[in-house]
Amino acid sequence: MMGKIDIYSPIDNSFIGSVNKMSVEDIDNIYIKARKSFKEWKMLSAVERASYIHKAADELEKMKEEVAELMTREISKSYKDSLVEVERTVYLMKYTAEEGLRIFGEVYEGGNYDKSNNGRMSIVKREPLGVVLAIAPFNYPVNLSASKIAPALISGNVVIFKPPTQGALSGLKVVEAFHKAGLPEEVLQSATGKGSEIGDYLNTHHEINFINFTGSTPVGQRIGMQAGMKPIMLELGGKDAAIVLEDADLEKASNDIVSGAFSYSGQRCTAIKRVLVMESVADKLSELLKEKVSKLTVGNPFDNVNITPLIDNKAADFVEKLYLDAKNKGAIELTKFKRENNLIYPTLMDNVSLDMELATVEPFGPILPIIRVKTEEEILEIANASEYGLQSSVFTKDINKAFEFASKLEVGTVNINEKTQRGPDNFPFLGIKNSGVGVQGIRNSILSMMKIKTIVINI
Ligand code: NAP
Ligand code: G3H
Repeated sequence: MMGKIDIYSPIDNSFIGSVNKMSVEDIDNIYIKARKSFKEWKMLSAVERASYIHKAADELEKMKEEVAELMTREISKSYKDSLVEVERTVYLMKYTAEEGLRIFGEVYEGGNYDKSNNGRMSIVKREPLGVVLAIAPFNYPVNLSASKIAPALISGNVVIFKPPTQGALSGLKVVEAFHKAGLPEEVLQSATGKGSEIGDYLNTHHEINFINFTGSTPVGQRIGMQAGMKPIMLELGGKDAAIVLEDADLEKASNDIVSGAFSYSGQRCTAIKRVLVMESVADKLSELLKEKVSKLTVGNPFDNVNITPLIDNKAADFVEKLYLDAKNKGAIELTKFKRENNLIYPTLMDNVSLDMELATVEPFGPILPIIRVKTEEEILEIANASEYGLQSSVFTKDINKAFEFASKLEVGTVNINEKTQRGPDNFPFLGIKNSGVGVQGIRNSILSMMKIKTIVINI
């Protein structure tokens, strides 16, 4: 008999529900069923597939309060933000269904050095890859599940969905919405169980054609090694910098930095995780940041506060370790570090230097280092020295300078006078270096899960 994994709330440790603990035989079975269903699913027209996705989005919309409440209990995201996540996902699914109708092939005409090639044409078709393994992280259990499942399905793939264990109950609601919409069960199946136990078996299964993963860099790197020549998409960690230049609007920059760094208690890949500020404006910026961070509310996510308990005690231990290292090496605590179990109060550290772990490591919690820098060249150097390359913000009123920084920063996305963020969901979204491989964002996600077939004809 299949075992169970019990899920408890990070808010108060109360029991929320259980998920199946799958064995390797269970996993073999779902892969076999997936492979069989691929034959029929890929033969449907895009319009038919889109209609399932639209219906699933409608089902999710009907369930939105229930799903948001569950998500708040399960991952301790404020109820307001959980509801936004579900609503955003409904739009993402509908947009994906529409975008899928606009994916076309191409025709190339001959005409290279040899005249005999003039009559040759290459008809380029786009075809689904087959069985997609979609693995989602805890911090967006609904949105980052649907952002893999819907593009995979619209392009004719079938999906094995591995939800995060903490977040599985919420992620499985996306699957429920699809099944309520009438999607055949074999076309979208879930694989539940701890990643550390079933992950390797799932990743290396011979039936897989594509792995679409969002999560931490170490697990992403492991999947990259295991995938060998199979195509993958990896969206991983980050150390996004907010760069504040001398002519920046400091009021606007400080507002964006505080919301960018502390929303969902810093547990976002795109959270601002370091501030690189020009020395000449650093005092003023620190003062503004301190004032705004001090006003953040802390407590129970059902009260819609800014800072809520972290996903578990291990995550809080990690943040505390980074805090202690910075403090012991001389960083200044602008707002006081305080911890109650897995709840950490928002902590702003000034005068952080590059020998402190907080300057380079991703904390995934509510702690923000301010690094004071003397020249713009040095800012770029520090920003680009990171192992990560997800996003960066540049705050300046000089548009030429903004573009110069944008072209020199080694990241996937640069936000000018804005906080770092993934959305809107149709924008291309990618990380370079240890932040990822491949490009997401609705259209790019669809294309990444299709292969090209070229058919050559001579007329
Ligand atoms: P994680 O520990 O890497 O887990 C992510 C997912 O991978 C979970 O479903 C997990 O399952 C599963 N997993 C664990 N080991 C596995 C293995 N060997 N094979 C296959 N799957 C395995 O990450 P997380 O703690 O959930 O998320 C936080 C991290 O994700 C942060 O580093 C953050 O920056 C990153 N992130 C990046 C993006 C982006 O778009 N760039 C977005 C969100 C999050 P279990 O839950 O069962 O362990
Ligand atoms: O945690 C990583 C997510 O991709 C971040 O998305 O910028 O919309 O919060 P977000």
